[in-house]
Amino acid sequence: MATATQSIREILASQASAALVLQRFEIDLCSSANQSLTQACSSLQLSVEQVLEKLAAADAEQNGAPPVDPASMALEKLVQYIVRRHHRLVRQELPRLAALAHKLATKHGEHAPELIAIDRLMDDLHGELIAHLEKEENVLFPYVVHLDQNLGLARPTAIGGFWRVSQPVRMMMNEHESALSILAELRSLTNEFTAPEWACATHVSFHTGLRAFERDLKQHIHLEDDVLFPRAVEMEDSIGSELQSGGLAKLDKASEPLCESPEL
Ligand SMILES: [Fe+2]
Ligand SMILES: [Fe+2]
Repeated sequence: MATATQSIREILASQASAALVLQRFEIDLCSSANQSLTQACSSLQLSVEQVLEKLAAADAEQNGAPPVDPASMALEKLVQYIVRRHHRLVRQELPRLAALAHKLATKHGEHAPELIAIDRLMDDLHGELIAHLEKEENVLFPYVVHLDQNLGLARPTAIGGFWRVSQPVRMMMNEHESALSILAELRSLTNEFTAPEWACATHVSFHTGLRAFERDLKQHIHLEDDVLFPRAVEMEDSIGSELQSGGLAKLDKASEPLCESPEL
C-alpha cells in the first residue's frame, strides 16, 4: 500500500496501477521520481490524502479477491466475470504498456537494444491478444452462454460456425500458449521484470505493469483453460447425449455442420 513518504519511484515499483492514477493527477512520473508523494502533491497543490485514496482504490480493484470463487459460478456468470475483469484489464493495460515500450525503445534503444526487441514483442502480444478477445467475445462465449441457458446444440448462425465447441476451445488454448510464450520472452529480456540501475521512472513503471499484467493473464488463462472450457465441453456432451437418448433431435454431427462458413 502506497504511503505519503514513499518516493514516486518506489510507488511505481510496488504498484502496477499507480502510474495511471498519478498521471490522472498530472504528476510527472519522471521529473518527480525522487520526490516523496507529499512533495509531489504539494508542488501541484494536490491533497495527498485524496491521491492516496485513489491509489488504494486502484490497488483494490486490480488485486482484490473476487466476491465469489469464479470456479463455482454458473457458466454465464463466469463468462461475464472473465470479460468484465480480465478482458477489461487487457484492453486497458496492453495499449498503455505497448506505448511505454515504444517510448523506451525510441529513447534508450540505441544503448539498450533489448528495448527494441521488447517493443516488437509488445506489438505482437497486443495484436494477438486483442484479436483473441474478439474471437472469444463474438464467437465462443456467446455459444457457451447459449449452452448454459439450456437452449440445445443448434445455434443461431450469428454465433459462428464450428462442429463442436472443442474446436474453438483448442484454437483459444493454442493462442493462450502463444501469448504465454511471448510473455516468457519478455520476462527473460527484462531480467525477470527488474528495471536496470539506470532506469527512469517510466521504465520502472513499465516493468511493474508488465509483471502485474503477466500475473493477471495467467489467472485469466487458468480460468478459461481449466474451468470454463472443460465445463463447456462437458455441458455440450451431456446435452448431446440427452437429445440422443430421448430421440428428440438426433443430430448427425458427422455429416451436418451446425452452421455454415466456419470462422474458427
Ligand atoms: Fe479471455
Ligand atoms: Fe482466452
